[in-house]
Amino acid sequence: MYIVQIASECAPVIKAGGLGDVVYGLSRELEVRGHCVELILPMYDCMRYDHVWGLHEAYRDLSVPWYGGAVHCNVFCGWVHGQLCFFIQPNSGDNFFNRGHYYGATDDHMRFAFFSKAALEFLLRSNKRPDILHCHDWQTGLVPVLLYEMYQYHGMGRQRVVYTIHNFKHQGIAGANVLWATGLNRESYYFHYDRLLDNFNPFALNLMKGGIVYANYVNTVSPHHAWEARYETVGYGLGHTLEIHQGKFGGILNGIDYNVWNPEKDDYIPHPYSVNDLSGKALNKKALRERLLLRDVDRPLIAFIGRLDEQKGMHLVHHAIYHALNKNAQFVLLGSATEPGINSWFWHEKHFLNSNPDCHLELGFNEELAHLIYAGADMIVVPSNYEPCGLTQVIGLQYGTVPIVRGVGGLVNTVFDRDFDPEKTPEERNGYVFYQTDNHALESAMNRAMGLWTDYPKEFQKLVMQGMAYDYSWNYPGEQYQGVYEMVRC
Ligand code: ADP
Ligand code: GLC
Repeated sequence: MYIVQIASECAPVIKAGGLGDVVYGLSRELEVRGHCVELILPMYDCMRYDHVWGLHEAYRDLSVPWYGGAVHCNVFCGWVHGQLCFFIQPNSGDNFFNRGHYYGATDDHMRFAFFSKAALEFLLRSNKRPDILHCHDWQTGLVPVLLYEMYQYHGMGRQRVVYTIHNFKHQGIAGANVLWATGLNRESYYFHYDRLLDNFNPFALNLMKGGIVYANYVNTVSPHHAWEARYETVGYGLGHTLEIHQGKFGGILNGIDYNVWNPEKDDYIPHPYSVNDLSGKALNKKALRERLLLRDVDRPLIAFIGRLDEQKGMHLVHHAIYHALNKNAQFVLLGSATEPGINSWFWHEKHFLNSNPDCHLELGFNEELAHLIYAGADMIVVPSNYEPCGLTQVIGLQYGTVPIVRGVGGLVNTVFDRDFDPEKTPEERNGYVFYQTDNHALESAMNRAMGLWTDYPKEFQKLVMQGMAYDYSWNYPGEQYQGVYEMVRC
């Protein structure tokens, strides 16, 4: 099959979080399965150009209809660690992707509406006719809408769209100007509950809802979150829309790319190791401590890696730091900022906590340090408020770093704690799960983990090895997506 993925991220060239990992990892898996995969991405000024090989102009002066006129773009092409990618760069008027950051501009809905339109225009003009367009998150929600309402009449009637939702919280709320700009000119038709009208705001359009309504298949990134999104508040108002479209909605658990996340051949870690010989893990712990100026003492080291966003359970992350230190453990946090308020707490506390030789907070995005932390820490804490899938716990398992997670979303589908899941055998256990959002629940899970580490090191090592034995590669999810493509394909 010929599959084109349209997304706002692809690791490692454009990565703000797990979306980038998934777009890259899934594409590689599909290629291994014999499909032809191409990616269409925005050409951001701030992307990691050092990860693109052979970048060259593939299409000059693509004229994208916009507000009755046109925005001219150049489309560049290059390989990102073996994956063929096309990058769209507007070169007339406002360059939507030269903002110094990927997201967070007040006109994000217009930037990505433009990207969606430009991606389809590029396919049309370059005579690319993929079997499947695979779109991701609200940024590309308009792709199936435009395809069905406009581009199919230009000879793109055979393309089918799979739409994957990674985060329901961000839905792309927009006004009528998105319609005027993209040329979808029957306003009252689109401002309708059955189409793009936001379920809360009767004066707004919802681009993610458009994706759900118009795509041929919709999924979120774990089976448990697919259930939660319909029946709990984590669908952020889209539960009823999912209910209406339940026949084409499901949950497919993410994988991780074992060529990128593999302690046996990870270039970012000084001491490779595997489940058969864990001695390198202890050396990486030492290297991590040296790098972050922590004391080299016989204590467990707990980590958090993630965006510092309310989603990730910030109040519990604060508490985890202080609880670990109270219990004589060490704590390392690597966090990138989104909301300024939440972030300022960490900036403020950082100076105080980093003077403690058992604690280090590193603020910012640092891929290389992330790998070293996964390899050097004993446990990784993921106390999320909600988590569509979560990759840090899965990467933790692969690196022998025991996850301590809150039982929500994809965390439920990946981490198994026999204390709460009697159906699991002791050999199937791979981490610690707690459910409530209060400090005590977190403390109790952390205490169990730290207790095992301290009092029963052999048992702890057994748990580490059981976690490493789980297969969370793209193999199985790749098969599931392939099945979905085959199902929807003409
Ligand atoms: P989300 O997509 O919600 O941010 P995931 O757990 O799915 O969360 O994926 C997070 C990805 O981003 C992982 O690959 C993780 O290692 C990486 N990551 C998160 N924060 C940072 C950071 N500050 N520095 C480096 N990598 C990070
Ligand atoms: C989102 C979710 C996260 C998921 C990732 C990749 O950002 O927050 O849970 O793992 O996308 O699908």
